[in-house]
Amino acid sequence: MGLVPSKSVLDAANEGRYAIGAFNVNNLEFAKAVIGAAVEERSPIIVQVSESAIAYAGMKQITGIVAGLAGGAGVPVALHLDHGRNWATIVQCIANGFTSVMIDGSHLPFDENVAITQKVVEVAHAAGVSVEAELGKLAGIEDYVVVDERDAFLTDPDEALAFVEKTGVDALAVAIGTSHGPRKFKGEPVLAIDLVSKIKEKVGIPLVLHGASGVPAEIMELGERFGAAWGGSKGIPDSSIVDAISRGINKVNIDTDMRLAFIASVREALWTRPEVTDPRDLLKPATAKVKSVAAGKMRLFGSAGRA
Ligand code: G3H
Ligand code: 13P
Ligand code: ZN
Repeated sequence: MGLVPSKSVLDAANEGRYAIGAFNVNNLEFAKAVIGAAVEERSPIIVQVSESAIAYAGMKQITGIVAGLAGGAGVPVALHLDHGRNWATIVQCIANGFTSVMIDGSHLPFDENVAITQKVVEVAHAAGVSVEAELGKLAGIEDYVVVDERDAFLTDPDEALAFVEKTGVDALAVAIGTSHGPRKFKGEPVLAIDLVSKIKEKVGIPLVLHGASGVPAEIMELGERFGAAWGGSKGIPDSSIVDAISRGINKVNIDTDMRLAFIASVREALWTRPEVTDPRDLLKPATAKVKSVAAGKMRLFGSAGRA
């Protein structure tokens, strides 16, 4: 099976009330891990690449790796640009076989976000490529005690409806208090999870949760046992992810949990196997750990067994 547009797997997830995992990859090891997990779990998957991942790996190299693995996978794989902000990169992605792009205009005023998103939708849809956009700003909400300040960066359901109607996007990323990276909360996790239901009621289309990593204690402990200094890291509990999916999230973005798993495993291998001289001997267990993280997410999100 070749690469599929993300709209096809996201619409099915919307219909079936589950979510597709969107996993960030930068290299061969992560691409093999996440697509391998999808094959084992019989799960559709979105493999996503950021602008900095393209700069790191090279456009032809990273698309070649993902398309090559997808070709033999036998499950639906979409290749998605994560957080596209640069018009030239978006056009290049479409020209190089991406089946899905995100235009991230979340930092722009509403009208400018609408205008750039409309432009991307026009060229992407003409090429059969799906489009995700974002409204609201990803940031923790625990520090905001003043309701107006808090609401200023969370996604507003009425604005979301106007945005979706004006742009015709296929999926919308929402801000409910999650953020990127391993330090999402200083204290207990705080999310405006009820907002998902309110936005979904208005727009109906697949919704996307960025910054969704769980930062699991066992991976933190493994890394720290072998010298990592990751103190203060805190992620989204699995129960909140399941709740968000039940309210209308259909795409869940995961990068941090895989990065932590990979680094923890490489640290362990370097320390416990000092005799190793072949880098593949260090990277194989790390790749297996990333695969196991991705497989666990597919089961949590309800996409396992859907392909
Ligand atoms: O949302 C950001 C992703 O985790 C990708 O991050 O730009 O470091 O590749 P990156
Ligand atoms: P995490 O940093 O929580 O894994 O989020 C990744 C993400 O949203 C990529 O777009
Ligand atoms: Zn993101």
